[in-house]
Amino acid sequence: MDKGFSYSVIDQVGVITIDNPGEKVNTLSSAFLHAFGEFLGALDQQSIKVLLIQSTKPGIFIAGADISEINGIFTEKDGEEKASIGQNIITKIEKLTVPSIAVINGACLGGGTELALACTYRIVSDNPKTIVGLPEVNLGILPGFGGTQRLPRLIGLNKALPFILTGKPVDGKKALKIKLADAFFPEAFLDEKVKRFISEITTSSGANKIKAKRAQRTFVEKVLEGNPLSRSFVGYMAKKNVKKKTKGHYPAPLAAINSVIYGFSKPIDKGLRNEAKEFSKLVITPISKNLVQLFYNQESLKKYTGVSDDTIRPKVIKKAGVIGAGLMGAGITWALSYKGVETRLKDVENKFLVKGLQQINTIYKQLVKIRRLTPTQANILFLKNVSTTSNFSGFHDRDIVIEAIVEDIEIKKKVFQQLERQVPDHCILASNTSSLSINEMSTVLTRPENFIGMHFFSPVNRMPLVEIIVGDKTSPETIASVVQLSKGLKKTPVVVKDCPGFLVNRVLLPYLNEAVKCVQDGVSVEKIDQIAVKFGMPLGPLSLADEVGLDVGYKVAMVLEAGYGERMKTAQVFQDIIGDSDCRGRKSKKGFYIYKSGNKEVNRPLVDRAVSYSSMSNQKYLDSDVLDRMILVMVNESVRCLAEGVVENHLLLDMAMILGTGFPPFRGGVLRYADSRGIKEIVTRLRELASVYGERFKPADLLIQYAQDGKSFYK
Ligand code: NAI
Repeated sequence: MDKGFSYSVIDQVGVITIDNPGEKVNTLSSAFLHAFGEFLGALDQQSIKVLLIQSTKPGIFIAGADISEINGIFTEKDGEEKASIGQNIITKIEKLTVPSIAVINGACLGGGTELALACTYRIVSDNPKTIVGLPEVNLGILPGFGGTQRLPRLIGLNKALPFILTGKPVDGKKALKIKLADAFFPEAFLDEKVKRFISEITTSSGANKIKAKRAQRTFVEKVLEGNPLSRSFVGYMAKKNVKKKTKGHYPAPLAAINSVIYGFSKPIDKGLRNEAKEFSKLVITPISKNLVQLFYNQESLKKYTGVSDDTIRPKVIKKAGVIGAGLMGAGITWALSYKGVETRLKDVENKFLVKGLQQINTIYKQLVKIRRLTPTQANILFLKNVSTTSNFSGFHDRDIVIEAIVEDIEIKKKVFQQLERQVPDHCILASNTSSLSINEMSTVLTRPENFIGMHFFSPVNRMPLVEIIVGDKTSPETIASVVQLSKGLKKTPVVVKDCPGFLVNRVLLPYLNEAVKCVQDGVSVEKIDQIAVKFGMPLGPLSLADEVGLDVGYKVAMVLEAGYGERMKTAQVFQDIIGDSDCRGRKSKKGFYIYKSGNKEVNRPLVDRAVSYSSMSNQKYLDSDVLDRMILVMVNESVRCLAEGVVENHLLLDMAMILGTGFPPFRGGVLRYADSRGIKEIVTRLRELASVYGERFKPADLLIQYAQDGKSFYK
């Protein structure tokens, strides 16, 4: 078994059992592939009538190729060679004279799926861990072991393209439905069912039945696949969709489409050669390296507990309370109820509770619509786990209460003071504040060790980040408990220190503020947004400010200005905006843009007022200056956060900015971006900007030190 697999023959059935020794998952490392290839070359096919490939790792078939090896490829030549070697070994399965069956009882991803595709048949189990997918595009590459060739041939272009382009795995049932799998069996009877399957496919009628089933195509599928013109149309449409979604920032899905369409009607070896070439071009790009790094970050977050002492045990949280049934409170209640936490929602009046319940119901309905839940499942989760009150009834047995009322420290303090008397001693109290001090709020509490910030992002059902804000007196047990709870809600928690703006807003707000200062300096509103979108931000900063609400943004900006002084001074035009209650962004149909029946145009009077505040508004600007003003101000503040220990390390910081603000994942995060530009160059550029625009661009001490020492944030 030291090769990673063993072989036995029982009743003329050859069984390859994969089980990488000492590893939690099976991967297709070079060493494994080499041994596997040699074994297949020497396999005595006379002695067997069929070959089974299975795994004995719990919940795993094969998790994919070895990502560290992919990450170690730096030349196209090496990339092409590695892909070809993998392809050749996998092709040996296809060329066997005996039929082969992949028995997939667990996760089957990437190279694992490509290996299974080379088998004559695929069986999937009903084990909840059984998934089949080709997630390579999420790592900035394409399936390079034959996935772009064999999958479309098996299930057709129409089904294969979305499978490859989204990288989303399917469960066993869906694998059967799209004919990726030939059989779907309950795990409990897998051995017996496999035996029966073997006796079926070893008869010509059984084998033909499966062949005929696979060959079935709808009329539309036949037309689309049938001739070169319609195939290029399919490719064109797929590319158009991808470009719209990715704004051209991700080359992998486009290369995957090329590979699929090119190879579909050609002999497979030609398609494979082309696939290896396309793979080799992608694998060496910084985009792929950044996405692989993010994958590693995500993997390391799985073990993240938020505390350094691993003897700390998180509290069990079964019952929760939420105070405030507005946008955030309703969202948080939904998130808790969806994951089985019984939640009591409180607001001051029934009419607010009704609105909150409607919002929760809408989210459940959306999940039913996209078939994530059946209507019955949604009803059960909603009715069983959500109850409401306009007083503190039912709060006596809560394990946690999350507050999401108005952003006013005095009101919040009063509510927490009342609340603490209503809940049991062990109950954690958390605030969803986006800007107020956790330490200050905790001064009114007799049990400050149970108090913490839990900053969810809006909309709660879609945003994956939770900033966990730790006060001076917060206990490690409280931290570990909310980290575990957030993970249970399928969110990514990042623990940060209590400081004005915490981490995400402290880094994001200077970017938004700088965009407004650019407007004052005469750069057009559309131009600023375009420059940011071209860089990869999901939305331009001025559009984002309108979405968030200018009144909301201003409040946070004032907290930052009070906390950090001159370098975070709020752009002057904000004072005028705030005096105008009609100008609060999209919700009042007027902000930096005016919103009219689905369209938006620039708010000219606001721009005219803005430029009156700057003596520089007649100057010409380079796009690169505008971009650097907005992005380097984020880099600089991120580095300060790191230096002050607001967040534990650069990996968490980059993850938080990607998940909390949509900072482009293909750039790997704010600090990864800084590395890619070179720290020395960043310092020089910041100094140039400081000489023109002022002290706010003065490089952070840690940046200067890194530049002097020739260091970078990532090794
Ligand atoms: P909202 O205005 O939609 O909802 C606040 C709710 O709290 C209202 O239903 C109000 O009736 C209720 N409320 C006020 N005083 C109360 C009390 N004493 N007891 C019980 N209920 C009370 O506000 P939203 O947007 O949901 O924000 C809530 C909190 O979440 C704020 O602290 C805000 O800073 C924070 N937050 C907001 C985000 C956003 O995008 N809106 C994002 C992240 C955090």
